[in-house]
Amino acid sequence: MSGIPHDHYEPKTGAEKWLHRRLPIVSLAYDTLMIPTPKNLNWMWIWGIVLVFCLVLQIITGIILAMHYTPHVDLAFASVEHIMRNVNGGWAIRYIHMNGASLFFVAVYLHIFRGLYYGSYKAPREITWIIGMLIYLAMMGTAFMGYVLPWGQMSFWGATVITGLFGAIPLVGESIQSWLLGGPAVGNATLNRFLSLHYLLPFVILGLVIVHVWAFHTTGNNNPTGVEVRRTSRKEADADTLPFWPYFVIKDLFALVVILVVFFAIVGFMPNYLGHPDNYIEANPLVTPAHIVPEWYFLPFYAILRAFDGDVWVVIVANFITGGIIDAKFFGVLAMFGAIVVLALVPWLDTSSVRSGRYRPMFKWWFWVFVVNFFVLMWAGAMPAEGIYPYIALIGSAYWFAYFLVILPLLGLIERPTVPPATIEDDFKEHYGKDDGDHGGITATSPSPAE
Ligand code: HEM
Repeated sequence: MSGIPHDHYEPKTGAEKWLHRRLPIVSLAYDTLMIPTPKNLNWMWIWGIVLVFCLVLQIITGIILAMHYTPHVDLAFASVEHIMRNVNGGWAIRYIHMNGASLFFVAVYLHIFRGLYYGSYKAPREITWIIGMLIYLAMMGTAFMGYVLPWGQMSFWGATVITGLFGAIPLVGESIQSWLLGGPAVGNATLNRFLSLHYLLPFVILGLVIVHVWAFHTTGNNNPTGVEVRRTSRKEADADTLPFWPYFVIKDLFALVVILVVFFAIVGFMPNYLGHPDNYIEANPLVTPAHIVPEWYFLPFYAILRAFDGDVWVVIVANFITGGIIDAKFFGVLAMFGAIVVLALVPWLDTSSVRSGRYRPMFKWWFWVFVVNFFVLMWAGAMPAEGIYPYIALIGSAYWFAYFLVILPLLGLIERPTVPPATIEDDFKEHYGKDDGDHGGITATSPSPAE
């Protein structure tokens, strides 16, 4: 490996060699930072770093909030007001944490849609995808429990509705529900365990992120062409890649700064824009809000949950076949979790031999309909479950399942893809002109060149 500058870490001084023999931590950090990265990555590849930033931001602000927050039904609401008014910079910490959750979900949805469009989930990156889905589930659990902590009306009623879903499971549902709540209804025990888990889960996510990064560092990144980095020779691998430092670090940091300008404008000028005014009313188990709505990032799944009432034919059939075990409520719960299961299984449902959507003329259309449908579901989820809205939610839910279970499997068989470029280098030259090869003396190399 010698002769190539900045290729792999080699300990030089005595102290470096001493440490390296005992714990090769510097070489791990160095090789991670210098990892050869496809040089044609576009702006959709910034979201991973934005996500890392969000996770760190949420952990730091969350730890500070926990120092001043009191998990008791009589004190929680007041302790949040205390943070806002009395704690130095408390309002800023709270608003950053509150809106940081939204930025986290904006980033994760764009990251997921990027993966869906460029086929990043396909072999050999299935594990990266599955770990990503586990992260996404853990994010949803964390956000849901965090929303309960300020103990406003939406906190209380949101928790009541969502934990009530478990009550819909036949036979064991009610036991599971009271086990989750720590009692017959959302109360002090619930608030305490939600704080405990809300504090714990981000560290579970951190662990999962490390495995996620490990997985895609093993396979190498995907890229907009979906064509793999050539690994037959060092020269070819270097022609397709650049080291992560400094090229992608600078690019990602630039994007992060632009995003943070928008983020802090929201935190500073309209921090409650994405929240619900009812959550500034203290929780009252005796007064149900007119419309119980979750945070925006849950709305598509909330729409799927509510789309299936007793008049929908699939519900009637399921009810008949199971002798009444699957009723409308339980069907809704199954549909909501099923929507995430089919998303997780996409590596095995997409049958196309071409990875990137760029070269799939029919897929592109269905994909963009899927994106629009996601927003339609989000909107339908925010509307009351009456009039035309449940029908719209039903059509949207049907498309969600059809996309994964029918369209993607069939497209792979009937579509005629266009021809992707032979190499990443070709694509790069086409988009950015000729690469003069001057990388300031820094060269990347394939993780396993057959040299
Ligand atoms: C805390 C949440 C997450 C973090 C910090 C994270 C981090 C990253 C990073 C840094 C990358 C490298 C490329 C890039 O920046 O886009 C990446 C790639 C990837 N992520 Fe995530 N991710 C998260 C959640 C997810 C989720 C929810 C999914 C979807 C199920 C997912 C699927 C993928 C896939 C398939 C790749 C490979 C793409 C490639 O190799 O180019 N990630 N992730």
